[in-house]
Amino acid sequence: MPSPLPVEWRVFADADRLAHAAAEILLEIGRQSIVERGRFTIALSGGSTPERLYRLLAAAPYDDQIDWSRVQLFMGDERCVPADDGRSNFHMVSHSLLAGDKPKAAAMHPVRTELGTPQQCAAAYGAELAKLFGVTPPGAWPQFDLILLGLGDDGHTASLFPHAAALKVNDAIVTASPPGVLPPPVDRVTLTFPVLNAARNAMFLVAGANKGAALKDIYQGRATIEERPASGVRPSAGKLIWLLDQAAAGSASITR
Ligand code: 6PG
Repeated sequence: MPSPLPVEWRVFADADRLAHAAAEILLEIGRQSIVERGRFTIALSGGSTPERLYRLLAAAPYDDQIDWSRVQLFMGDERCVPADDGRSNFHMVSHSLLAGDKPKAAAMHPVRTELGTPQQCAAAYGAELAKLFGVTPPGAWPQFDLILLGLGDDGHTASLFPHAAALKVNDAIVTASPPGVLPPPVDRVTLTFPVLNAARNAMFLVAGANKGAALKDIYQGRATIEERPASGVRPSAGKLIWLLDQAAAGSASITR
């Protein structure tokens, strides 16, 4: 197993500057992926911080800086609600990133929440990913060019919540998970740790002082995966980037 690359931590004055930096990094990774492999595969996150990034990407000047017809969009996690429900992550992506004329050319692969139970939806999405990436887990995992992630106040990421059974799933690409303590109180479907850690690049977007306690534990290396699941994201051969705004960094006593 190769050693993980050093983690990159960057702090920005505010959430807006953070989103601009995220857009530039995403587009750079995307262009490089298209050159090297002919496509750019991204797992999108829900949450308010990524939504700001998606709105930027949907408009000038960023919308013109990549060939969207070579971009494949997936969901890193989803809430088990209909696609037109305001709580759906796909709904948010549709009204931000995919509201842009150019990003509409991307291939979008939503979680099909209408298929049945959370377990059935997870199994179907896992099967779709296995096919599209041409892999059979647990021998091989989809390798996303970029996985975007957020950090919950409680230290969760994607829909991997503290102490949840989903944290231990290591034989499936996608798993179902009951709601955590933070809203909305709906079942989830989420990528598992083996997939997050197979990524070529994983990028956290973290804004707001409310993230301070979880962020501090992770930054100082004293978090357990059970307590702060986001600390379990450590791509084995890929790059891990944490983008923070000053409010989040300050409240976690991170100075850079
Ligand atoms: C979701 C997410 C979740 C989110 C964090 C941070 O479905 O809610 O994917 O993991 O990224 O809760 O969200 P904010 O950026 O809104 O703080």
